[in-house]
This record gives sequence, structure tokens and C-alpha cells, in this order.
Amino acid sequence: MVLSQLEEHRPFGGVVPEVAARAHLEHVDGIIAQAMKEAGVSFAELDCVAATTGPGLIGGVLVGAMSAKAICVAAGKPFVAVNHLEGHALTVRLTDDVQFPYLLLLVSGGHCQLLICKGVGSYTRLGTTIDDAAGEAFDKTAKMLGLGYPGGPLLEKAAAGGNASRFDLPRPMAHRAGCDFSFSGLKTSVRRAVETLEGAMDQQTVSDLAASFQLAVAETLVARTRHAIDMARASHPGITHLVVAGGVAANHAIGGALSDLAASKGMTLVKPSPALCTDNGAMIAWAGLEHFRLGHTNGLDFKARPRWPLDPDAPAAAYAGVKA
Ligand code: KG4
Ligand code: ZN
Repeated sequence: MVLSQLEEHRPFGGVVPEVAARAHLEHVDGIIAQAMKEAGVSFAELDCVAATTGPGLIGGVLVGAMSAKAICVAAGKPFVAVNHLEGHALTVRLTDDVQFPYLLLLVSGGHCQLLICKGVGSYTRLGTTIDDAAGEAFDKTAKMLGLGYPGGPLLEKAAAGGNASRFDLPRPMAHRAGCDFSFSGLKTSVRRAVETLEGAMDQQTVSDLAASFQLAVAETLVARTRHAIDMARASHPGITHLVVAGGVAANHAIGGALSDLAASKGMTLVKPSPALCTDNGAMIAWAGLEHFRLGHTNGLDFKARPRWPLDPDAPAAAYAGVKA
């Protein structure tokens, strides 16, 4: 059950925190009631109630967590606090029963990370972005090209008729050691190309720029993931599965490039369906259930966390402005 706020944010060209919090408040009771009705269960029949408690925009997180806690009190059920990123990380165990350990490329609007998933609640982060997330880069580039919001799917559509070799854009970090990402230089290169073209941005040029950008992102993701496969195999020789999750995983060019990479490395690529790759409640319920089965529940005093890395021991990325 997914209720989207995209229409509320579209006039602003991006997510506005206050608008997001208010929309959560206005809709949370209704969507819970609808989900319960569709599932045909009562609160009394639940084993536990799981909710996202971070990381992310704190207003919406607080509304969801408080609603879940209220149901726990009223129905006498245990509460499970779920990390949003862990929801993305564990979805493949719901859809494809993938066993630990596996390598995860998490590419969403807020995050771009490579992680070894070793167990429920146990992750080693191999790399993260030092500036923009991959989805954020898609959204910002789409805006520069006048394609609208949210940019990822619109840019992919524009790129379909484009010549990806017309613009020579950089592959940020591709030849550096480690698995960190950077997308702001790529975005700046697109901006420069747009400025150079001035008024001459016909539809074909927009398509060519979109295709060139998409190829640069795909090749960057592939280069960093290739490195992560080697690192993951060094510490976990039996690792066989590469999982890609998050909204950007819906992109066909990126999915195809990762699929070629997995084949060349003898790994099995698993990609949950787009409906379960982009943000949804089922992935949080599933992560909650994984914890509940292991006996992990949380007190009602569990506080929402705007910042909550999956691997608290991960060293900071080598440069500036890290997104955990
Ligand atoms: O995982 P998600 O739904 O939300 C976050 O947790 O951020 O990811 C949303 C992001 C947005 O930046 C959106 O533009 C991007 O995923 N996205 C895509 C595509 N579909 C969604 N990016 C590239 N190509 C797509 N087809
Ligand atoms: Zn997400």
C-alpha cells in the first residue's frame, strides 16, 4: 500500500520538509485503516507493529513512529524500530529469499552506498557518496534539462531517443581506490554543456545530453561495484549475489549495465520489482518481521534518528560532505 506525495511537491520541483510532514499527518490514519481493511486483519491479530524511525526528514518519520507506538499501546503489541535503509537492504529476502552474505548497491534519492549484508542488523559499508546521491543527481540534471520532477523516470524517457556519445561527460571517481561515489562534478559538467548551448536546446539535444548523463552514471556505478565485488570476495569468499535496490534500480540502462557486470564476474544479480525498489511500506514491515523473528523489539521510548548509518563503524568517506 503506497500513498504518494509527489503531486504536493511537484510545484516546488523537489521535496519540501514542511509539506512532507503535514502530508504525513493528514494521511497516516487513513492509509493505516485502508491497509488493515485490504489485509482483512484487526490490530489484535498482529504480532508486532514496525515503523521507520530514521534516517530521513524528521517530521514524517516522527508522525509514522508515533502512530505505530500509539497502536502498540492501544492493542498491547511490541514495537519494532526500523532503519529505512535496512528496509531497502532486506527486501530481496522477501522477494527472492536471498541468503546472507550478499553485496548490496543501494541507489536511491537520498543514498548511494555499497554494503556487504552479513545478517539482520549486521552490515559492512564499503563505500558511500561524498556529495549527491545517484537519484539526486538524476533529479537535479532533469531539472537543468527542463524535464520536471521527479527527474529519474523523465530523464530515462528523454534518454531513450538520445545519442549517448555526443557529450563527453566525466566518470567521477572511476579510477580511484575504494568504493566511494561522487556525482556533483558530473552535474556541473551537464550545467556547463547547457550553458554553452545557450538557447540551442532542441529536443534532440536534450535527449542526447540525457543519454550521455545516464551512460556516465551507469558506467560510474559499474566501475565502483566491480571494485566492491573484489573487496567483498576478499573478506567473504562464498559471496554469490549482487543485489541492487532503491528507486534508481528501476532504470533500465543501469540495470542492464549491472547485469552485464554480474555476468562477467560470475555473480547472480537480483533486483526487486520497481514497486518494491522505490520507497514502500512492505519493505519496512518485512525488515520489522526479520527483527521480530530474532526476538528484537524496541521500547516505546526509542527516539527517531535523522542520521542512522547501517554500519556505525564505517570510516568516513575520504573527502567532504558525507551522507551516511
Ligand atoms: O528509493 P526511492 O523511491 O526513495 C528514496 O529513498 O530516495 O528513490 C527515489 C529516487 C529519485 O531520485 C528518482 O528520481 C529515482 O529514484 N528514480 C530513477 C528512476 N526511477 C526513480 N532514477 C533513474 N531512473 C529511473 N527510472
Ligand atoms: Zn528509500
